[in-house]
Amino acid sequence: MGSCALKALFFLASAFLVLTEVALAKHAGITRHYTFDIKLKNVTRLCQTKSILTVNGKFPGPRIVAREGDTVLVKVANHVKNNVTLHWHGVRQLRSGWADGPAYITQCPIQTGQTYVYNFTITGQRGTLFWHAHISWLRATLYGPIVILPKRGVPYPFPSPNEEVPIIFGEWWKADTETIINQALQNGGAPNISDAFTINGLPGPLYNCSAKDTFKLKVKPGKTYLLRLINAALNDELFFSIANHTLTVVSADAVYVKPFKTDTVLITPGQTTSVLLKAKPHFPNATFLMSARPYATGPGAVDNSTTAAILEYHQPSSISNPKRNIKLALLKPTLPKLNDTSFAASFSKKLRSLANAKFPANVPKKVDRRLFFTVGLGLNPCPQNQTCQGPNNTKRAASINNVSFVQPNTALLQAHFSGQSKGVYTTDFPANPLVKFNYTGTPPSDIFVNSGTKVVVLPFNTSVELVMQDTSIIGAESHPLHLHGFNFFVLGQGFGNYNSSTDPSKFNLVDPVERNTVGVPSGGWVAIRFLADNPGVWFMHCHLEVHTSWGLKMAWIVMDGKGRRQKLPPPPSDLPKC
Ligand code: C2O
Ligand code: CU
Repeated sequence: MGSCALKALFFLASAFLVLTEVALAKHAGITRHYTFDIKLKNVTRLCQTKSILTVNGKFPGPRIVAREGDTVLVKVANHVKNNVTLHWHGVRQLRSGWADGPAYITQCPIQTGQTYVYNFTITGQRGTLFWHAHISWLRATLYGPIVILPKRGVPYPFPSPNEEVPIIFGEWWKADTETIINQALQNGGAPNISDAFTINGLPGPLYNCSAKDTFKLKVKPGKTYLLRLINAALNDELFFSIANHTLTVVSADAVYVKPFKTDTVLITPGQTTSVLLKAKPHFPNATFLMSARPYATGPGAVDNSTTAAILEYHQPSSISNPKRNIKLALLKPTLPKLNDTSFAASFSKKLRSLANAKFPANVPKKVDRRLFFTVGLGLNPCPQNQTCQGPNNTKRAASINNVSFVQPNTALLQAHFSGQSKGVYTTDFPANPLVKFNYTGTPPSDIFVNSGTKVVVLPFNTSVELVMQDTSIIGAESHPLHLHGFNFFVLGQGFGNYNSSTDPSKFNLVDPVERNTVGVPSGGWVAIRFLADNPGVWFMHCHLEVHTSWGLKMAWIVMDGKGRRQKLPPPPSDLPKC
């Protein structure tokens, strides 16, 4: 070949490369920069002022908006006395485990005066998620929405809404929440229950001196609104309903679902649910409460108060004359009763993946590892020379397979990555309960837990089937289990003890819902599957913060694969030190 022909070939080849790069860039998304300054702010709720941790002085915190495929850089600067980490709840963090955020799992905390840049790309997700602090109970006030829009030009698989509104539920204590949990962990008793729930940071008119602290949503007749519901409460699953309006559920945990109509949504801490609200075609001559209150099944005390926001309609101009200043009726929704487990079961069965060509449900068909975890409460003995406030002078605890997780004092991911696990964690987390008993029947006489920092190690691309079984130790209770780093498919659930010979035949392998947090039914079980295709250390825990504090948590280590894009890159240089 002559040199001229060679040059032409080279030119053609490089032109082709440039073109494909342009095409790739179009799909690759942009980088979005955020600065999060953690600082104190005085906030008054329920007629009482307290100093709370905030991001940029905002409560709830700022909204992160990105499109699928975008990279998000959040520079977090800690200006408070507390150690802080932030977690991007539900973001898959493909090969970016260093940005996941749970303290002492993927990173050491950001100390006073320090900064850390969380750097992650949003891949294959669209919908609603949220961010929150992930150390102790700081997420009580440090939380905010994450809105993931589809790629530019890509429509929603449902009627396009006229407006989108995040509705973020929170939980409020008049007292300092760090004091509450630290004292409870000291004395072994249950921490004080909250004083209120909030909608977008506001308790609403059903609480004392809170009428002025009410979120209002103003709508126009005939228009459609996408409500991005987020449960950022610490310890309570919530029912949510709007008086005289039906909602259409379209997405859960940033995955589209088959749309279905419901008057009430059940949402556990850690879950997000997008619903369409179709405003009435004509001005209804009324305003409507949008209320939330707990679904609670456990043995402990609950804050059974109700938070509410107001849905009001724009007045048509024809009737907006001064004579018509009559007070409109305020209608209230009826919510299921506090422990309505049958509502919970039927609601969760309605959630199904779209499972179509555009949005397939890639349920792992073969299973490499089967695990069975009991989740529930337990006790620890009271240390010598102390009196404890748990039952019969004990300390309250919680566990998975009777292992109550002990937080290490260095990050598991760093220990794993540097090959220095010795003295930090062990890899003997039990795949099955060591002692079998009637999990939902009369508890065994010894209900003390074991303690340890134990993990399950999975080779890259292992497909995992996990059954989580609630126990009736101390009391059956619904536990919203959250897995970091993955979505899982919810194949089935039931009451009583899981039966490994009869229950699997009823699993839904066609269109199971795909999510990151699932309620283990009170006195029942749930079966999930996920593909361990994301190398790193991944926390799994109950999203009732009080249970996490008591040890209902564990971690998975997913090893690197052989391919270049199957390995966890080294940590960023600003990763905080312990
Ligand atoms: Cu919402 Cu471990 O997280
Ligand atoms: Cu729990």
